[in-house]
Amino acid sequence: MNQVEVWWAGVGQARAEFLADLNAVERERHARYRREADKARFLLGVTMTRRLVGARMSVAPADVVLDRACRDCGKPHGKVRTEGVELSVSHSGEWVGLAIGTAPVGLDVERVDSAQDVDGVAGMSLAPEELQVLKQYDGAAKARAFTRYWTRKEALLKATGDGIGAGLWTVVVSAPDEPPGVVRWDSGPAQLNDLEIDEHHLAALAILAAEPPSVVVDQFRI
Ligand SMILES: CC(C)(COP(=O)(O)OP(=O)(O)OC[C@H]1O[C@@H](n2cnc3c(N)ncnc32)[C@H](O)[C@@H]1OP(=O)(O)O)[C@@H](O)C(=O)NCCC(=O)NCCS
Ligand SMILES: [Zn+2]
Repeated sequence: MNQVEVWWAGVGQARAEFLADLNAVERERHARYRREADKARFLLGVTMTRRLVGARMSVAPADVVLDRACRDCGKPHGKVRTEGVELSVSHSGEWVGLAIGTAPVGLDVERVDSAQDVDGVAGMSLAPEELQVLKQYDGAAKARAFTRYWTRKEALLKATGDGIGAGLWTVVVSAPDEPPGVVRWDSGPAQLNDLEIDEHHLAALAILAAEPPSVVVDQFRI
């Protein structure tokens, strides 16, 4: 059976001394973020990846070899990869998550934004049958239902490494109040889980596998 560990850290856990374990490219990316919260989320994602993969492989965090080459342009801003395990990083609002799996994984966390133009974004990202379902919701419930759709779909597209550039509407998932599942997708078998974080954030985990994995969720402690 495939296994997935999901680790969560709060954005307030970031510390400047974590920069010591980053490589030159990661430090450059960190320096380019202008908002402190973006810096903190990126730093935590790298730190969790280096420390948790390093602990598994008995390698010092700074010596873990990570490949983020983008499939489209080759720049180091793509899905993070390393030898021996499958990884997915996600950050939004207060949280940073890392999934470590025995098969390709995709993790997505999103802060529910009740102020966003839900209909506008949904029109560009949901499939026709999903848009029909979304019409049943209003106000804050609609923002939440849309975010549930989004996390489920983005988790799947992050598992393949395509990202949302592939078009979120190309994957159809179950309705927000139904158990997570893939309704239509042409990328082979996949399993979907919703993950509980807090009332302001929703998260989903996808794994490219024919059977449901065992999933263990934990808080990253430093
Ligand atoms: C990359 C993408 C998945 C990020 O989505 P998001 O909701 O803004 O952010 P998340 O926090 O959930 O995910 C970010 C993480 O996804 C990972 N990631 C980047 N590209 C990815 C991809 N194609 N597939 C899976 N994971 C990816 C990275 O680890 C990144 O973390 P990092 O920036 O700290 O290294 C999304 O923006 C996307 O798919 N963009 C389109 C891809 C694209 O345009 N590629 C061409 C660029 S030339
Ligand atoms: Zn790119």
